[in-house]
Amino acid sequence: MDAHGRTFLLLQVFFCFVVFASTGENKQDCSQVQCPGPLMYYEDVGCTPLYKNEGDYCAYKYNCDHLNARSKNKCYIKRNSYEFGERLRAQDKDPCNVGCFCTNETNSGRFVCAVVDCFNGPIDTGCYMKRNLSQCCPGPLTCPKNESEIPKCVVDGVTYKDGEFFTPKNEPWKRCTCQEGYTGRNIEPFCIMPRTTCSTDLYHSQDIAKKCIPIYYADQNPATSCSRAWRCQNANDTVIPNPSGSPSSGEDCPGKKRYDLQFRQPDHESRGRD
Ligand SMILES: *[C@@H]1O[C@H](CO)[C@@H](O)[C@H](O)[C@H]1NC(C)=O
Ligand SMILES: *[C@@H]1O[C@H](CO)[C@@H](O)[C@H](O)[C@H]1NC(C)=O
Ligand SMILES: *[C@@H]1O[C@H](CO)[C@@H](O)[C@H](O)[C@H]1NC(C)=O
Ligand SMILES: *[C@@H]1O[C@H](CO)[C@@H](O)[C@H](O)[C@H]1NC(C)=O
Repeated sequence: MDAHGRTFLLLQVFFCFVVFASTGENKQDCSQVQCPGPLMYYEDVGCTPLYKNEGDYCAYKYNCDHLNARSKNKCYIKRNSYEFGERLRAQDKDPCNVGCFCTNETNSGRFVCAVVDCFNGPIDTGCYMKRNLSQCCPGPLTCPKNESEIPKCVVDGVTYKDGEFFTPKNEPWKRCTCQEGYTGRNIEPFCIMPRTTCSTDLYHSQDIAKKCIPIYYADQNPATSCSRAWRCQNANDTVIPNPSGSPSSGEDCPGKKRYDLQFRQPDHESRGRD
C-alpha cells in the first residue's frame, strides 16, 4: 500500500448548496456575528438568501438553482444572460472590466476581457496617487509640499492617507478609498458598491458550469474574501453530506449552526485489499 493510497484527502469545502440549520431558542447579541458561508461568492453569482425566520440575521441557506439552469450557449453575470459576441453591458461593469465580451468556449460561454495595465513610472518620494473609484487606474499624481497637507481618514480605528484603500468592518462588500472630505460616512465618492466583489461570473463561468467550488486558504474568511482557487469534483471523490453538522461559533444565533458538504478522496488501496 503506497502512501498515496493511504492518503485521506478531506477537503473541508463550502459548496453552493451548503445547508445551514437553525436553532432559534437561545438569544444572544447576534449583530457582531459573522454569518458563515462563502458569502461573497453567493452574492457575486446572484444566489438568493433564505431565512428561517423573518428578521434572522444570517441566511440558513442560499438558493443557487439558477446556476443549474444556465445554458452553455450563453454567458452570465448573476441572472443576466449574454449571447456569444455580446459586449459586457454598463450595468454589469466595474471600472476595471475593459473590453469584455462573451465567447463560445468548450462546454460553456466565457467572458474575455482586455488586460488593464495601469503602468506608472516610479513615484517620487513625498508624492502619491490620488484615487477616483469610478476609474480603474490610480491618479492623478500628487506631490504635497508638506506631509501634513495629505488628507487622512480614520476608519475602524485605523488611519488611512488620501488614495489608500480601506474596507469598512461593517460593510465589507464596499470598496472605499480615503479622500479629502471623508467624515466617516461610507458613501460615494469615498466608497462604491462594486457590481461584483470578486468578478466570479466574469472569470470563473467555466468553473461554475462544471459545478466546481471556490476554495479558500486558511488565512481567508470565506464570508468576506474572494476565493483564490477552485476545486472540481474528480472521479476519485465521493460526496458525503455531513449528517450531524458541526457546531460552529454563533450556534445560538438564528441561522448560525452549519452543515458542510465535504469531498473525500477514498482510500482505493485499502478498499481493495482490506
Ligand atoms: C459553440 O461551439 C460549439 C462547439 O465548439 C458548437 O457546437 C456550438 O454550436 C457553438 N454555439 C454557438 C451558439 O455558436
Ligand atoms: C471620477 O471619474 C469620473 C469618470 O470616470 C468623473 O466623472 C468624475 O468627475 C471623477 N471624479 C473626480 C473627483 O475627479
Ligand atoms: C509642515 O506643516 C506643519 C504644520 O502646518 C509645520 O509645523 C511644519 O513645520 C511643516 N513642515 C515643513 C517641512 O514645512
Ligand atoms: C485518482 O486515483 C488514481 C489512483 O490513485 C490516480 O492515479 C489518479 O491520478 C487520481 N485522479 C485524480 C483526478 O486525482
